[in-house]
Amino acid sequence: MTAVQDIVGAEHVLTDPDITQSFGTDWTRAWSAQPLAVVRPADTDQTAQVLMACKKFGVPVVPQGGNTGLVGGGIPHRDNEAIVLSMTRLQHLGTVDRATQTVDVGAGVSLARLQAHASAAGFAYAVDLAARDSATVGGMIATNAGGLRVVGLGDTRQQVMGIEAVLVDGSILRRLEPLAKDNGGYNLSQLMTGSEGTLGVITAARLRLVRAPGTQYVTFIGLADVESAVSLVADARARGDLTAAELIRSEGMKVVRQVCGLAQPLKAEHRVYLLLETAELPELPDDVDAVVDPRMWEYRDRQAEAVATLGIPFKLDVCLPINSIAAFLTELDTLPDTQGREVHVYAHLGDGNLHINLLDIDVEMADRLDEQVLTLVARYGGSIAAEHGVGVHKTKWLHLSRSSAEIATMQAIKDTLDPAGLLNPGVLLP
Ligand code: FAD
Ligand code: MLT
Ligand code: ZN
Repeated sequence: MTAVQDIVGAEHVLTDPDITQSFGTDWTRAWSAQPLAVVRPADTDQTAQVLMACKKFGVPVVPQGGNTGLVGGGIPHRDNEAIVLSMTRLQHLGTVDRATQTVDVGAGVSLARLQAHASAAGFAYAVDLAARDSATVGGMIATNAGGLRVVGLGDTRQQVMGIEAVLVDGSILRRLEPLAKDNGGYNLSQLMTGSEGTLGVITAARLRLVRAPGTQYVTFIGLADVESAVSLVADARARGDLTAAELIRSEGMKVVRQVCGLAQPLKAEHRVYLLLETAELPELPDDVDAVVDPRMWEYRDRQAEAVATLGIPFKLDVCLPINSIAAFLTELDTLPDTQGREVHVYAHLGDGNLHINLLDIDVEMADRLDEQVLTLVARYGGSIAAEHGVGVHKTKWLHLSRSSAEIATMQAIKDTLDPAGLLNPGVLLP
């Protein structure tokens, strides 16, 4: 550890197990292992030097941002084997460039801070998610985070104009200029986006901003079935002003009201609830039970927190063709290991992205659920990893969403950039 202490300063190398334990435990508490140490570089140069030292001594490195990831990708997997490289000290926030509508940002900046910065300059950052106070720019790029406004404004990949990243040998890839056109070969910034810390450590990014939103209506609607929700989303989409379309099933509504002490927002209880965010009021059937109120976001934002308060959640994040969702959910509820259990489903419905949560699931049942649910997803032509990434949770199932040629190509890229397999071992690739 002396080598890294000399680089970042002794106070930024944490080794006390009582302190490092939280860096080795993921947000859900489903995965945990003791880090060798937590190393906190101040900038790109220190990041490069730490990586060179780790390469020299053959020490695995797990890059970490806000530790809000939900697939076990941001923590070590065996006790005292890897260091956690915590990137939260990289807090640079550049001046918003009005001419190109972009900003350069350090990897450790939280989403909330980036959003506030963009807003102060009269713009907005397109991606939003409930973990905004902790999730970092580096983590969001590494996972290609999606979130609440993908249906209207796109995912993280679409906001990334360029990044700065350090490879395992300490070399630095830097593409931070605000250039709208720049076809100089392979797009390495986009290769790093969604690579889950397996190819390099992201230290900064040049991000696109969008126009600040004008008046937006948040309409919360109680419905009898998912088909009706899908149909309302299609209508809203056709009008062209839809920025969010979120779904909560009755189980999730019950839990969020109970845990967070929220009132019943509609006249009656329903099987499903749809939240639409639009610039114009949506057209709804006359007899529909609905309310227009921005506070309805809280019922959706706090779904993950509410379920996790009741226990360690078993979670799957999948994407389906939107027209298949109703049929998929019917089958989901009757799988051998879901039957008779409460299956908490909330969704970025506009993207076909379902979050499936169950409680009181032991390791054996978790394995069976992975197999049953993900095989079903594949049968419907869906993706087993929608927006949270593959992490350690889904490496075994990657073949359900990627061909052997695709996996072999990814492995070849990994072997070239990280031949000793020191960056985030066990994550993403089987
Ligand atoms: P971490 O959890 O620290 O790390 C995630 C992954 O990125 C790991 O593989 C890690 O090794 C890698 N990584 C982190 N920083 C770097 C870096 N600088 N360089 C290279 N690799 C790095 N996700 C969504 O997509 N949409 C949502 O709507 C959403 N909602 C959420 C709500 C809650 C309440 C919670 C707890 C999580 C939610 N997430 C959501 C998941 C999570 O917030 C995102 O995956 C986020 O992008 C993770 O950011 P982080 O900084 O916490 O990354
Ligand atoms: C969400 O949309 O609420 C998040 O992705 C978190 C989760 O899946 O629980
Ligand atoms: Zn989500």
